[in-house]
Amino acid sequence: SAATEFHNAPDTDYAEAEARDRIASAIQSVRQTLGQTYLPLIDGEYVETAENLKSLNPSRSSEVIGVVGMISVEQAESAIASAKTAFSSWKKTSGRDRVAILRNAATLTAQRRDELIAWMVLETGKPVKEADAEVSEAIDFCTYYADEMERLDTGVSYDFPGETNHYHYQPRGIVIVISPWNFSLAIPMGMTVAALVTGNCALLKPAETSSIIAAKIAEILVEAGVPRGVFQFVPGNGSLVGAHMVQHKDTHMIVFTGSQAVGCQIYANAAILQPGQKHLKRVVAEMGGKNAIVIDESADLDQAVQGVVQSAFSYSGQKCSACSRAIVLESIYDTFLARLVEATRSLNVGAAEDPSTRVGPVIDDEAQQRIKSYIEKGRTEAEVALEMPAPDGGYFVAPVIFANVAPDAKIAQEEIFGPVLAVMKAKTFQEALDLANGTPYALTGGLYSRTPSHIEQAQTEFEVGNLYINRGITGAIVSRQPFGGFKLSGVGSKAGGPDYLLQFLEPRVVTENV
Ligand code: SER
Repeated sequence: SAATEFHNAPDTDYAEAEARDRIASAIQSVRQTLGQTYLPLIDGEYVETAENLKSLNPSRSSEVIGVVGMISVEQAESAIASAKTAFSSWKKTSGRDRVAILRNAATLTAQRRDELIAWMVLETGKPVKEADAEVSEAIDFCTYYADEMERLDTGVSYDFPGETNHYHYQPRGIVIVISPWNFSLAIPMGMTVAALVTGNCALLKPAETSSIIAAKIAEILVEAGVPRGVFQFVPGNGSLVGAHMVQHKDTHMIVFTGSQAVGCQIYANAAILQPGQKHLKRVVAEMGGKNAIVIDESADLDQAVQGVVQSAFSYSGQKCSACSRAIVLESIYDTFLARLVEATRSLNVGAAEDPSTRVGPVIDDEAQQRIKSYIEKGRTEAEVALEMPAPDGGYFVAPVIFANVAPDAKIAQEEIFGPVLAVMKAKTFQEALDLANGTPYALTGGLYSRTPSHIEQAQTEFEVGNLYINRGITGAIVSRQPFGGFKLSGVGSKAGGPDYLLQFLEPRVVTENV
């Protein structure tokens, strides 16, 4: 099958001095180009806007990465009108032609790897190694969805004596892609190319704080050969322009990754039938998590400590997959906590471009304030087991570990999206699982254990979309770990998995009496 033949793009090996030099000089040359203006792409033209937004370096907030033109509601209207026109011919293109465009996009992304890493480092404060893995993921989305489209494109025959039955797929129409800043390249690229390869027109509205990386995606897709109007880059204010496009009568589908609050709003707004609208909209929304790792008494603690540290604090905890709760069995609780604190203390907190940095900044001042207020709340609810100093000059929040956190504490229930970990104690394995399942979310989860019965029980009872046993819980790889959750973590099928493209398609059957 396609899945077993699929090859993931390899990450860079930064043990090699040459690779380290290459990325240092890429960051330097991108820095020479900071401050430029990036315009929206509507109907094949880069258009001026009345409003602009400055994008800042979270590691050094005085540094302006660039300025992005923000579209108005009228410009959103014209983008949708242009997509509507473009769709009538794009839907008739062959799957093969669309697949070829995705393969071009994969090649172009690979060629620009170092430059794209540099933009992610500077615009989103993501450390180099993690940004490198994200470039691989972006390439994988292009090649995997290209393979998937080839698989689906043939359709299926369900013939019967006296009749032919041909089952096949057609595109839905206009897809609004609303993307997050935390995987500023891979996630918008994945969502957008999925829409395009299935024959839909896509309008990409990126998160404000990662608009320039999104502008790079636009450059890549245009160069890869996506025709005018079929793909449009529409940065704009989410609650105004984003909401307008979601509610537009000509929109067929919204693909969203972001917060639960916004996801629920989109789901509700998309359900309202607008005057003149002749279809119901589909919403795919990947939202938050309050992900737990359970550590039982049989766990390999070296492995568990390392896995929790990595899952909780990489990219400063700003992943929907991040571990924000460690649920530890009573008998090993003190030992585990002591080792976890020491391991975390050794992480360097600093600018994303510094090769020694393990924890970079958070995305912006609003995030910094929100996370800090959760930390203040945590002080009133639990014990502070570790708090580290944070550098100045950027939006830094150093890792914080809270111990003896009660199940109903705010810091045990709400997604903080920062480097804050709640450690909780469980008397029995059953209690640990109950605690793990005791939030409205079901995205990722982990178990460190060498007890077969516990592993088996977790497989059936741990309510998450992606369960990881004896490893960290972030960094899902396209086609190996299709990614996504359920409950209030989201609606729709897994990115990088075999059901993903089906969401962008309408199945049809043509029966002929022969
Ligand atoms: N796919 C990412 C991960 O697994 C989260 O979006 O970490």
